[in-house]
Amino acid sequence: MASPHNLNLASQGTSLKALFSGYLMVVAVGYLMALVQIQMTHGLADGKLGLSVDDIVYSYYGNRNNSLLENKLHGSMKPMASDEDRAAIITWIHQGATEESFEATGIKQIFEANCIPCHNADSGMPIPDYTEFKNIKERALVDTGASFSSLARVSHIHLFGIAFIFMFVGLIFSLAAGVPKALKVGVIITPYAFLIVDITSWWLTKLNPNFAYLVIIAGGAMAFSFAFMWCVSMYEMWILPRKGPDSRDALLDE
Ligand code: HEC
Repeated sequence: MASPHNLNLASQGTSLKALFSGYLMVVAVGYLMALVQIQMTHGLADGKLGLSVDDIVYSYYGNRNNSLLENKLHGSMKPMASDEDRAAIITWIHQGATEESFEATGIKQIFEANCIPCHNADSGMPIPDYTEFKNIKERALVDTGASFSSLARVSHIHLFGIAFIFMFVGLIFSLAAGVPKALKVGVIITPYAFLIVDITSWWLTKLNPNFAYLVIIAGGAMAFSFAFMWCVSMYEMWILPRKGPDSRDALLDE
């Protein structure tokens, strides 16, 4: 029984099936390579093998608890300022430790009152001089994850590249005959919707680490729809019995 427009995967000629299958095989290997690469870059971000939420947070948001200044404020410099003042300094560090907010949010006054009495050029102690902002900044630097420019670069490469892959995978799958229409449309549109969600969630994770979960959900949804379209297409081409007329190696059997 042929589908109304006669365009189903099972009834295509062998050469078109070979073309489709060759493409599907290569993009599947490409997908696996991408997963390996993710494991080797992002997967090791927290020092442990395997991709975790922490890895995604460290990659995009950064590991912001690791400045010398913050460590000292929890350690040997803890008695030097009130809890409130130390909290204010730490918040300032986490927000990027800019010179503007140093001046504008009163951090400068905290340093002048609590730190500079010792941390100055004439103290005679071998400790950094905090009358120079540069010396504070150096010790406040934290890992803030991927830069906005690298995010913009990777985002556009992903949007163009992945949209292209799903164009052909979806086109092949759209010729499958055995999938109910609603499911088919859903599976075809899913990777596009979640591609947008995925890229958006990178940027959101850069701003707020809780969005790391969204990165995982979006990646999972894309992988699932890819696997579904791949398996159904391969099944209909090579395992399902042929449907409709099949005498020519042509896409459009009339
Ligand atoms: C009573 C003097 C004194 C005061 C006040 C003081 N410090 Fe210190 N600071 C020291 C000494 C001494 C060291 C070196 C020993 C150490 O690292 O614990 C030091 C070291 C440090 C270091 C490590 C320096 C480096 O680069 O190796 C940091 C960061 C620091 N202080 C921050 C602060 C901050 C922030 C304040 C104000 C809240 C402050 N200190 C107030 C005496 C002081």
